[in-house]
This record gives sequence, structure tokens and C-alpha cells, in this order.
Amino acid sequence: MLIRFKKRSEKIAMGLLSFMPAEKEVKKLQDTIQEYEVNEDWQLFLWKEGDDVLGAIGVRLDQDNHQAIIQHISVTPSHRNSGIGKKMVDELQKHYGSPYKLVANDVTRKFFEKCKETPKE
Ligand SMILES: CC(C)(COP(=O)(O)OP(=O)(O)OC[C@H]1O[C@@H](n2cnc3c(N)ncnc32)[C@H](O)[C@@H]1OP(=O)(O)O)[C@@H](O)C(=O)NCCC(=O)NCCS
Repeated sequence: MLIRFKKRSEKIAMGLLSFMPAEKEVKKLQDTIQEYEVNEDWQLFLWKEGDDVLGAIGVRLDQDNHQAIIQHISVTPSHRNSGIGKKMVDELQKHYGSPYKLVANDVTRKFFEKCKETPKE
């Protein structure tokens, strides 16, 4: 299930975000997680199965254009290719509902487009 990120899961969230190509440097990663903690428009969610956190998806809300822009998406390597990435995208669209259209940025576009191709299970 998709749950909103809380500071107590900071380390696990940083571990997941570090799989993003642009988040390899510790300083950049710390700045990113800080932004998710303080900026209301930056919203990070974790994918939890039982006690395990297996994925992370983060958006920036663009209030003017009513868009939730996916900036980060990552699944722990041992659980990739089992549909978690797509499930996070689908659940997040449901979470935001109609006020916000879920879109991608240049970094996340390829996977986002891939999700739209695949029929829902
Ligand atoms: C991208 C990522 C989140 C996908 O998570 P996942 O749970 O494995 O995704 P799903 O199981 O829902 O979907 C798997 C499908 O997406 C494809 N896929 C994986 N990464 C992709 C990418 N960057 N662009 C396009 N398609 C991609 C897989 O090849 C697979 O395709 P198939 O079903 O035709 O075999 C995961 O690979 C990851 O954490 N990557 C490292 C972080 C990253 O680079 N994020 C940005 C990606 S744009």
C-alpha cells in the first residue's frame, strides 16, 4: 500500500531515492529529502508490503496547472519487474483524484509512458 512519507522513515527513503541517477551524491540526496519534509508542494510516498518498504514515488504539485509531476520513482532492486512501479503510479493517480493530473518530468517520463501502455491488472 502507498503511505505518505514520514521523517522516521528518512533513511529508508534516502536509500530508495539513491537509485535515481540524479540522486547519487549524498549532499543532493539530503537536499531532496529535506525539500520533501518542509515544502508542502513536494510530496513523497512509500510503497509498503507488510513491514517492508519496497518503493518510493515523489511528486511536486504545480498548483497553477493542477499537475502532480512525478520527480522520483524507485523500487528496491530485489523487487523490480513485479509491477510495484506501475502500482505506485496507479495508486498515486487515485490519491490525487481529479484536481491534479499526474504527469512525468524528463527524468521519469520513460517509465511513466511505459505504465500508460500496460493495461491495468
Ligand atoms: C523504474 C522502476 C521504478 C520500475 O519499477 P518496477 O517495479 O520494476 O516496474 P514495473 O514492474 O511496474 O514495470 C516493469 C516494466 O517497466 C520497464 N522499465 C523499467 N525501467 C524503465 C525505464 N526507466 N523506462 C522505461 N521502462 C522501464 C521494465 O523493462 C518492465 O517492462 P516489461 O514489463 O515490458 O518487462 C525501477 O526500475 C527503478 O527503481 N529503477 C531505478 C530508479 C530509476 O531509474 N527511476 C527513474 C526511471 S524513469
